[in-house]
Amino acid sequence: MKTTTQFLNMKARGEKIVMVTAYDYAQATLAEQADVDMILVGDSLGMVVLGYDSTMRVTVDDMVHHAKAVRRGAKDTFIVVDMPFGSYHGDVNDTLKTAVRMMQETDANALKVEGAGEVLDVIRKLTAAGIPVVAHLGLQPQAAGVLGGYKVQGKTAAQAEALIRDAKAVQEAGACAVVFECIPHELTDVISRQLVIPTIGIGAGVEADGQVLVYHDLLKFGEHRVPKFVNVFADAGSVMREGLRGYTEAVRNETFPTLAHSFTMDEEQLQHLYG
Ligand code: KIV
Ligand code: NA
Repeated sequence: MKTTTQFLNMKARGEKIVMVTAYDYAQATLAEQADVDMILVGDSLGMVVLGYDSTMRVTVDDMVHHAKAVRRGAKDTFIVVDMPFGSYHGDVNDTLKTAVRMMQETDANALKVEGAGEVLDVIRKLTAAGIPVVAHLGLQPQAAGVLGGYKVQGKTAAQAEALIRDAKAVQEAGACAVVFECIPHELTDVISRQLVIPTIGIGAGVEADGQVLVYHDLLKFGEHRVPKFVNVFADAGSVMREGLRGYTEAVRNETFPTLAHSFTMDEEQLQHLYG
């Protein structure tokens, strides 16, 4: 398993960091087999796994439940778990308790929180307690209501400058990496050059030190809306649908199960049964 130090070194060497989300045992197993550097148990699970229309209804219990399964499937991969909506904006000591619980129950390697500003205290507090924190700036889905929807962030010079300040602030507060979602790639370039910690982009261009995508987006698994910045690397959804159609048809026309899929009784026992 890679460490936060190795991620810093990868950035320094210009080696890309590959991150993907995963939400259960089977997905995590495949991600680890594919040799990704980091797995994110994202609160995007609200949409792609639980069928909500935002991340706002995802709870700490949901995150813990899924992160445990991911850890069982990816024992040797660095796992980051999202702190969900509302779980880190109250008293910072309560946040620490929640964070400790999440780390202990899931055996994660780091937690992720959205935002700077007041969240800087959270980053400092958790880091001081020995919990690596990944920051998340730019489009913050947990704040979509306040941001006025899912929109590209940092397009004006003033917004870009504010983002650069926030990026430096989360690094200063102790973040071990920072996710940038939906920002202009030119800004990603500027920020990535100014930070020591790796930037992980999603809809942020190739200039980021690493990339993250949502599992179900890049594999076209599910019927949710796939954002413009995603590339579909495989249409797993079609393969699965075809398989399920084949099964349905085979049961209806009795081509499944065959004798090869069936158990048989000894001849002698059969005689007893039928007399
Ligand atoms: O929840 C998630 O999947 C995320 C990524 C989009 C970075 O936070
Ligand atoms: Na998230």
